[in-house]
Amino acid sequence: MINIRSEDEIKKLRLAGEITAAAMEIGRDGIKPGTTTQEISEKVRSFIESKGAKAAFLGYNGYPGAICVSVNDEVVHGIPGDRVLEEGDIVKLDIGTYIHGFFSDMARTFPVGEIFEETKALMAVTEESLYLAINAAVAGNHVGDIGNAVQSYVEDKGYSVVRALVGHGIGSNLHEEPQVPNFGQAGGGPKLKSGMVIAIEPMVNAGKYEVRTLEDEWTVVTNDGELSSHFENTCVIRDGFPEILTLMNGEEKWLKTIR
Ligand code: MF3
Ligand code: CO
Repeated sequence: MINIRSEDEIKKLRLAGEITAAAMEIGRDGIKPGTTTQEISEKVRSFIESKGAKAAFLGYNGYPGAICVSVNDEVVHGIPGDRVLEEGDIVKLDIGTYIHGFFSDMARTFPVGEIFEETKALMAVTEESLYLAINAAVAGNHVGDIGNAVQSYVEDKGYSVVRALVGHGIGSNLHEEPQVPNFGQAGGGPKLKSGMVIAIEPMVNAGKYEVRTLEDEWTVVTNDGELSSHFENTCVIRDGFPEILTLMNGEEKWLKTIR
C-alpha cells in the first residue's frame, strides 16, 4: 500500500526535511583533507540531536553509524570510521532524520579539495539526473517514468545506473512502498498521485553498474573499483507537482528545472 499524506503530515515531513538539509550543510562544511569520516558523522549527529530529532539510520536493521559516509568507489552505506579524507576524494553523505513521527532522507556527493574535471562531470550528471527524475514525479505519471528519466540521461552520457539499490517511498517509515528504481520503462509501475512521498536517489557509476558489499556487511562498492556518485531528495507530490523537502541553501537554482 502506498500512503497518501495529509497536509498535516506533510507539515511534519517538511520539518524533517529542513533539519536533514541543515544537517547536510554541517556535514559538507566539515569535509576537508585530514578529517575522518567519523568526525563528520559526529558533527552531523550532534546537530540533528540539537534540533530534537534523531539520526534515522542509527540502529536501522543494525546499521552502526549515525549517517552514511561513502568515499570514491564506495556507492552507499559506508560506515563512519577512522578513514582519513584526502585531497581529490569524493565523499557521499547520506543523512536521515526522524522527528514527530516522520522521516526524511537525502544524499549529496562533495569533492575533497581539488578533483579531476572528469570526476566533476560524473557528479554533475548524477545531480542533473536527480532533478530530471523529480521533474517526472508528477501526478498521473508512473514510477517507471522517474527511473526512465534517470537511466536515459545517465546512459546517454556514458555512465551506468546502479540496479541493486533503489529509491523508495518514505513517511512514518524510512522505507515504504513504492520502490523507485533509477532505471526502467516509461509508463511502468504504480501511478503517482498527490500526497505520495518518495525519496528519489540516483546512484551513478563511472564504470559498470555492478556493485558488491564489503565484509563489514554494509559498505556497497563498485565491482570494477571505479568512482560512484549519489544524490537524493525526499519529495512530496502536492497538487499534482513535486515539492522538494530536502533542498539546501544555495540549491534554489534547481527549483527552476522542475514544474
Ligand atoms: N538512505 C539510505 C537508503 O535509502 C538509508 C540507509 S539506512 C542504513 O537506503 F541503515 F542502511 F544506513
Ligand atoms: Co534513501
